[in-house]
Amino acid sequence: MLKSHNCGELRPTHIDQEVTLAGWVNRRRDQGGLIFIDLRDRWGITQATVNAQTAPEAHAAAAQVGREYVIQVKGIVRARPEGMINPGLATGAIEVEVQSLRVLNAARPTPFDISSDNKVDEALRLKYRYLDLRRPHMQQNIVLRARVTKFIRDYLYERGFIEIETPILFKTTPEGARDYLVPSRVHPGKFYALPQSPQQLKQLLMVAGYERYFQIARCFRDEDQRGDRQPEFTQLDLEMSFVEREDVMALIEGLMTALVEQVSDRELVTKPFPRLSHQEALARYGTDKPDLRYGLEIVDITDIAGKSGFQVFVNNAAAGKPTRALRIPGCGNYSRKQLSDLEDLAKSVGAKGLAWMALETGESGQVKSPIAKFFTVEQLVALMDRLQAQPGDLVLISSDTPAIVAAVLDTLRREFGERLGLADPKKIAFCWVIDFPLFEWNPDENRWDPSHHLFTSPMPQDIPLLDTDPAQVRGQQYDLACNGYEVAGGSIRIHDRQLQERIFGLIGLDVEDAKQRFGHMLEAFEYGTPPHGGIAPGIDRLTMLLAGEPNIREVIAFPKSQQAADLMAGAPSEAEPKQLEELHIAIVEDQRAREA
Ligand code: AMO
Ligand code: AMP
Repeated sequence: MLKSHNCGELRPTHIDQEVTLAGWVNRRRDQGGLIFIDLRDRWGITQATVNAQTAPEAHAAAAQVGREYVIQVKGIVRARPEGMINPGLATGAIEVEVQSLRVLNAARPTPFDISSDNKVDEALRLKYRYLDLRRPHMQQNIVLRARVTKFIRDYLYERGFIEIETPILFKTTPEGARDYLVPSRVHPGKFYALPQSPQQLKQLLMVAGYERYFQIARCFRDEDQRGDRQPEFTQLDLEMSFVEREDVMALIEGLMTALVEQVSDRELVTKPFPRLSHQEALARYGTDKPDLRYGLEIVDITDIAGKSGFQVFVNNAAAGKPTRALRIPGCGNYSRKQLSDLEDLAKSVGAKGLAWMALETGESGQVKSPIAKFFTVEQLVALMDRLQAQPGDLVLISSDTPAIVAAVLDTLRREFGERLGLADPKKIAFCWVIDFPLFEWNPDENRWDPSHHLFTSPMPQDIPLLDTDPAQVRGQQYDLACNGYEVAGGSIRIHDRQLQERIFGLIGLDVEDAKQRFGHMLEAFEYGTPPHGGIAPGIDRLTMLLAGEPNIREVIAFPKSQQAADLMAGAPSEAEPKQLEELHIAIVEDQRAREA
């Protein structure tokens, strides 16, 4: 080893010991006869002092080193002189008095400062990710991520789970995104698909008798990128046999609780995790992944608004469309400009308008609003009562289809969660969302789509509705939401061939199609399949929340950019003509590129 200790390790108990340290030069201060070097590795920083009198050769060498040089120093651990102790540094009570110094590798000036977490353009950070990863903030995140996966592994092994790897070169999987395809050289014109998740394989492992399986699994989905989405991401993929919904939920609730409390410095504010039906989540929060760190609940006012004189509300109520409102505490003094910005925000998610009412402060308690004139005093009183509005509050009202009203009020609720400082990153609030409809109607394709995936089992009592009213069938699905993100999704699966075939039929897969794509599953179900179910928490999203980060790129060592590119290595890139030929692939000029 080129070092006897790491740079975060030395304490007063080491005083007078001879040590060898190696690492990066975080900072160097030259005070003439004395040079101070802050030497850094992933465990911490130790101050090395080089004295021109006692170590002239080392001093001459130290005079030449710059930031990010990799050096090795040998010396004696000394107590720092009185007044020089740095209580902010774990090694702040000692320093190493250097006897010899060796440069292991020089460094060019870096494109941004490594020693601080000053804001740097993200494209530059991604291009020099290996430098970005040296910075304190990224080191903390990457270490946290490693602790998260280690904790998960230990927790599951203790409970009888085993880890099994499944293939990356596989067949198209039905998670609803686009596949990444890999052309086959050996089978001209044929393709593997990278798994969107190990869903089918983990179910087949249940058929094979490995009844408590997990895997820290890489998944690949070609979909539009967002802050919480990457083309390749990591799931804790898990499956159990002979279980019911409650068993899987209890296991995950225990794991998540322990994870937050033992691995992170966040405060878990939901114990036990609240449960909401899908319907209730949409009604109260406008989303199936509500942020429960704060209230700001949606209130239905269709009945009152429908009896007002405001035509939009009256017509919508008559057409069965809801009018719903949010009470925003203390924002009744918003300016016209602020209100019109909120209306624009509402319109960006499909609203036609956004009505508002402000409750004035003081004795009068007047309602200020462009639509107040359409309401009687009694109606206004009833409205404010229903909303429990106080003087100084702002009420925002959306009226449209249930989906648009939900999207609008969810967006506004999130906006005010941030604005009013209610979305505290130090807090973690989980909740379960259950009783999802098994299907969603797809008007473009004129068929039912599975709302989770096509292996999710219907609620047994709803099975008769499959033939009569598929919209009313609930699935045995459970999603885990945390701080406004979906962090896990899972379900009890179908383990019966006939039922699985009925579901395929409903989603428009004919027998031949189904056989072609999922014949192996259907066949497996005929050889003794245990009832089974599972779930898959997203490790990136979970770690992002535990680290209090705004996007998952901050907790992934080498993420892709928003345009799904690796800016460091330059991927994707062109292939050699010879490679393409071997793969039987011809590149067709991009129509859009030609037109541009
Ligand atoms: P689902 O598709 O809900 O379920 O995915 C499970 C979890 O994976 C995470 N996730 C993502 N994270 C980052 N980038 C992405 N593009 C991305 N897509 C999904 C989310 C999500 O909750 N096979 C089923 C699980 C099961 O039924 O057991 C599945 O993949 O946190
Ligand atoms: P108008 O009568 O069109 O001037 O609208 C009066 C107020 O009602 C404005 O603040 C509009 O933004 C708002 N408004 C219009 N349509 C809707 C709607 N569907 N839901 C909520 N508010 C609306």
